[in-house]
Amino acid sequence: MRNFDENSITEAVLQRFADCPDPRVKEISGALVRHLHDFVREIQPTEEEWAYAIDFLTRAGQKCDDKRQEFILMSDVLGVSMLIDAINHPPMEAVTESTVFGPFHVNNPPKFELGDNLAGAMQGDPMYVEGTISSPGGARLAGAEVDIWHSDGIGNYDVQQLDKLGGFGGRGVMKTDAEGRFRFWTIRPVYYPVPTDGPVGELLRAQGRHPFRPAHLHFMLSAPGHERLVTHIFAEGDKYIDSDAVFGVKDSLIRTYVLKPAGTAPDGRKMDKPYYYVDYDFVLRPLAASRQASSARNRTDAASASISYIPK
Ligand code: BEZ
Ligand code: FE
Repeated sequence: MRNFDENSITEAVLQRFADCPDPRVKEISGALVRHLHDFVREIQPTEEEWAYAIDFLTRAGQKCDDKRQEFILMSDVLGVSMLIDAINHPPMEAVTESTVFGPFHVNNPPKFELGDNLAGAMQGDPMYVEGTISSPGGARLAGAEVDIWHSDGIGNYDVQQLDKLGGFGGRGVMKTDAEGRFRFWTIRPVYYPVPTDGPVGELLRAQGRHPFRPAHLHFMLSAPGHERLVTHIFAEGDKYIDSDAVFGVKDSLIRTYVLKPAGTAPDGRKMDKPYYYVDYDFVLRPLAASRQASSARNRTDAASASISYIPK
């Protein structure tokens, strides 16, 4: 086979792996080549543009280390992370919706008791958060793991200012009580920019986009017999609620962060200044319902479960 032109080259490449022994590898490779060739034919890049693209991807790779993952960020701002989420966690009646995982989760976060304050040395307004975790039938899930992380009142995560804070803040893990309830104090998060000091920031600027995410609390919820849920509680009325840089907002995940006057908080604590309050009742998808997904989809889900990184 020789003398390929702008169109015949595609079939020639597809033929090269016609005998691929793994049907999934063959399917993915075929789709990649077809779509990539169509993309290149559509945009008709100059050689300078193609060299820029190679350099962009090279720099994205060079930006990555054990604390920074520029390719996940690229996937986030291009809407691919939320597309993967939509494919792997389609909506199910009465089950809480999932959203983007993001880069700021850390493995083995500090452990807390119910009602503790997770804020550490973080700055911002106090906030009380409570809620429940249940199965779709309404059965409360006792001993479920509640893993929380969020930004402070200025728009930084603890991992972006560990030296200043002297340790973690605005993150921790706790277990629900016998009635499937959780509760904790923390700092009210505010909107913040995704990291823009690398190639993804360059991409956002070139596309004329802002880098902000509306204020949110991250939750990762796990209970035996149920699919792990990665989600947020977004703040109603946030300036960026309709233009999240990573497309993670869903109506069902928005709640008002209510400003309460000084006085007695729901847990009996006497507050000498106003504080914010939010509650959310989460419902986890039973594993029996999640097994309807294909094994390939489950592979993707399992792979994403282990990705955690911390921007510098
Ligand atoms: C976050 O919510 O922490 C996040 C998500 C995607 C990209 C950057 C940050
Ligand atoms: Fe976040």
